[in-house]
Amino acid sequence: MKERTPLIAGNWKMHHGGQSGFALASELVAAVGGLDDVDVVIAPPFTVLAAIGTETENTRVELAAQNAHAKLEGAFTGEISCGMLVEAGCKWVILGHSERRQLFGDTNDGVREKVQAAMAAGLRPIVCIGETLAQREAGETMEVVLGQLDAVTDLISVKAGTAAVAYEPVWAIGTGRVAGPEQAQEVHAAIRGRLAEHKASLGAQTRILYGGSVKPENAAGLLECEDIDGALVGGASLKVDSFVKIVQIAREGAERSSAN
Ligand code: PGA
Repeated sequence: MKERTPLIAGNWKMHHGGQSGFALASELVAAVGGLDDVDVVIAPPFTVLAAIGTETENTRVELAAQNAHAKLEGAFTGEISCGMLVEAGCKWVILGHSERRQLFGDTNDGVREKVQAAMAAGLRPIVCIGETLAQREAGETMEVVLGQLDAVTDLISVKAGTAAVAYEPVWAIGTGRVAGPEQAQEVHAAIRGRLAEHKASLGAQTRILYGGSVKPENAAGLLECEDIDGALVGGASLKVDSFVKIVQIAREGAERSSAN
């Protein structure tokens, strides 16, 4: 039986930053209202966070941002601090997403600073880690993934279970190429093992999400793996139907697991 509540998070990326985002969030709040036993998070663009924050307040849907700056405030044109995200209604923040690492220069050290800032502000980080295709083919998957994890492990162990980790193989993001359940489970088990080496409760309580082309068609196989506690969903989170289906699949899995 899995003891961790499944977590399904939707990463909207640079989509639905206005009225359509507000509408999508409202529909989701209504659709997942009765689906207990699963934690549901959405990460819309900055521009609609505050508006959606009023809509999701006191509902089962929690709000995340897709990035944050590590400093509290100051002359950082175009940046948003963790304190601002809390004010907008965020409970979570996605940090170290591979698109940030690849396109915007986020490094392990930079992600570490952001995780520190998020935890200090009371935001729960979803720390993304994952290897590129070239790294996988060179046999470097574990080294890369565990190296990215090691950069934040001591920080997230201060309050075990507060942060989530998302394993997202870069080659599976937005490509339709999903890692097979055995492939994903192998890396998830290694991540959990590394967390447990640091502190047993960190290994036991941290939710490790899989991300990369998760869809209703492949979610069940992934979510039933022992060390996969949820999903970080990109494309399939942009439509109510597909996202809610994934939430339902996670819930059915949780029910089956608690019946065993
Ligand atoms: P995808 O994105 O589901 O569209 O592959 C996942 C992510 O980048 O978080």
